[in-house]
Amino acid sequence: FAQDSAFKIGLVLPMTGQQASTGRQIEAAARLYMAQNGDTVAGRKIELIVKDDTTIPDVTKRLSQELIVNDKVNVLAGFGITPSAFATAPLATQSKTPMVVMAAATSSITQASPYIVRTSFTLAQAAVAMGDWAPKNGIKKVVTLVSDYGPGIDAEKYFKERLVFNGGQVIDSLRVPLRGPDFAPFLQKVRDLKPDALFVFVPSGAGAAVMKQFLERGMDKAGIKLIGTGDITDDDQINDMGDGALGVVTSHHYSAAHPSAVNKKFVQAFEKANPGMRPNFMAVGGYDGMRVIYEALKATKGKGDGPALLAAMKGQIFESPRGPMFIDAQTRDVVQNIYLRKVEKVNGQLFNVEFDVIKDVKDPGKTK
Ligand code: DHB
Repeated sequence: FAQDSAFKIGLVLPMTGQQASTGRQIEAAARLYMAQNGDTVAGRKIELIVKDDTTIPDVTKRLSQELIVNDKVNVLAGFGITPSAFATAPLATQSKTPMVVMAAATSSITQASPYIVRTSFTLAQAAVAMGDWAPKNGIKKVVTLVSDYGPGIDAEKYFKERLVFNGGQVIDSLRVPLRGPDFAPFLQKVRDLKPDALFVFVPSGAGAAVMKQFLERGMDKAGIKLIGTGDITDDDQINDMGDGALGVVTSHHYSAAHPSAVNKKFVQAFEKANPGMRPNFMAVGGYDGMRVIYEALKATKGKGDGPALLAAMKGQIFESPRGPMFIDAQTRDVVQNIYLRKVEKVNGQLFNVEFDVIKDVKDPGKTK
């Protein structure tokens, strides 16, 4: 290995298309990490190559192949949606290239290649916390509404399992298409069913549309609470959702309002570098993913071959803006706190304010 050559990170993201907000957030956070930590690590110049997969999994795969073969990247990173991560996993295995999943959150992704390390979260991790909280807070009858693909199906399954265990009941499970969903007929059905609450998972960027239609239909006034994983009250969008969002309770691993010194510094620096943008959970997945890559390169003294880097990523433990986290060496998945949060106004802006925490949650999907 040429120690004086650049160390290349291929960052494949949805910069356009349905999940463009994910790409924008992760790229901004990755660049912030580099600005704060320098672009030379263990004597190697870091080169970040950003590619737009347009939110199409076949494109993610083709771009990743080109990055491996033509650019000879040392690490692949990004992966905005589950199908993009699955499409690329075999390439990581064949080429022995570590693949840092910064966004996609279906449990089984880490099992698709021994070269995958995840710095985002899993829907199973987040959803069980809500399945515990809801029935203890007067919510017994629930309808679930999820995007009909990996993370939605995980959210539906793990939420329901835990809700039922705690004496609650899911009276209907609705699935909406990932591409161009029309929530109206589903919400009408929910209104007719009159559950205590509607549990929702939609991917980052789609939450505002659900919230708007939920409020327009007067579901809240009909006594139906909105609950879900934190994807629905995404920090990228929450402040524009209006006061109708106040009081919505979600479970998730990151809030821009997380009250730690590390997070305050992160949010401040992110907002300074990206005026008008607030970092969301995608940004933190990208920021921490860069940290995992930098530290692995340091630990391997700039050598940068795939298997050594992968070994140095496993077991990393550190304080993220989200709170403490570590990369489980066995599963290569993230172990982290899951917080219960309520939408409140802080200094005139809407935030997910944390009010409870479940510490060191492993992905429940790994034990099945
Ligand atoms: C996935 C995408 C999201 O935008 C999100 O919030 C959660 C999961 C995914 O495709 O895995």
